[in-house]
Amino acid sequence: MKILIVGANGTIGKAVAAELSARHEIVTAGRSSGTFQVNTADPKSVRDLFSAVAKLDAVVCAAGNVEFGPLEDMTAERFDIGLRDKLMGQVNLVLAGREFVNPGGSFTLIAGTLSQDPIRFGASASMVNGALESFVRAAAIELHDQRINAVSPSVLEESMGAYGAYFRGFEPVTAQRVALAFSRSVEGSQTGRIYRVE
Ligand SMILES: NC(=O)c1ccc[n+]([C@@H]2O[C@H](COP(=O)([O-])OP(=O)(O)OC[C@H]3O[C@@H](n4cnc5c(N)ncnc54)[C@H](OP(=O)(O)O)[C@@H]3O)[C@@H](O)[C@H]2O)c1
Repeated sequence: MKILIVGANGTIGKAVAAELSARHEIVTAGRSSGTFQVNTADPKSVRDLFSAVAKLDAVVCAAGNVEFGPLEDMTAERFDIGLRDKLMGQVNLVLAGREFVNPGGSFTLIAGTLSQDPIRFGASASMVNGALESFVRAAAIELHDQRINAVSPSVLEESMGAYGAYFRGFEPVTAQRVALAFSRSVEGSQTGRIYRVE
């Protein structure tokens, strides 16, 4: 398969690229890293990416920013970052990618455990992850020739240095386990699934 990985240079993306590159042709993209540069929050940038990459068998996204902070300090502008970047950034990949993904191909998006299991300072992330999971379930019943799933991991072991204080009591998961969930989505046959890695 020819697989586009957006965010391939990130903590999750690197593990997904390592897992899938053993068996498939990988095309990498990132904000400033990768073979192709893209800002997923910008629909034109996403369309340009697909025009450059052309036909694909799978699109994987391991990119998306959200703001964390106490709810009392959150503003509409700070919520808007997650909405435009992590949520619509990935919706933009699906909307623009539909005509470039071969029949039988797939989209795999990244959500996160905060959709189900909120933490302090994570209201925006919970909202965006929940919306992504709902989008995947809904899009799956209208995408007839293509599949769509999401991977929803707990906090990563590799990220505990940065996020550990916010996730006390959560059992961290390895990037390698998260990569296996992406593999199930890309190399399996299911659609409309949320693969939880906890
Ligand atoms: N890490 C965790 O514990 C964890 C747990 C659950 C869910 N998640 C979710 O997983 C996703 C990836 O997390 P991560 O920790 O792997 O992030 P990361 O290490 O910061 O890597 C993010 C990757 O995405 C790219 N990227 C970021 N914003 C982009 C944009 N607007 N357009 C295109 N590419 C963009 C970056 O490109 P450059 O390298 O060029 O900057 C980088 O390659 C996030 O949405 C996060 O919420 C993470």
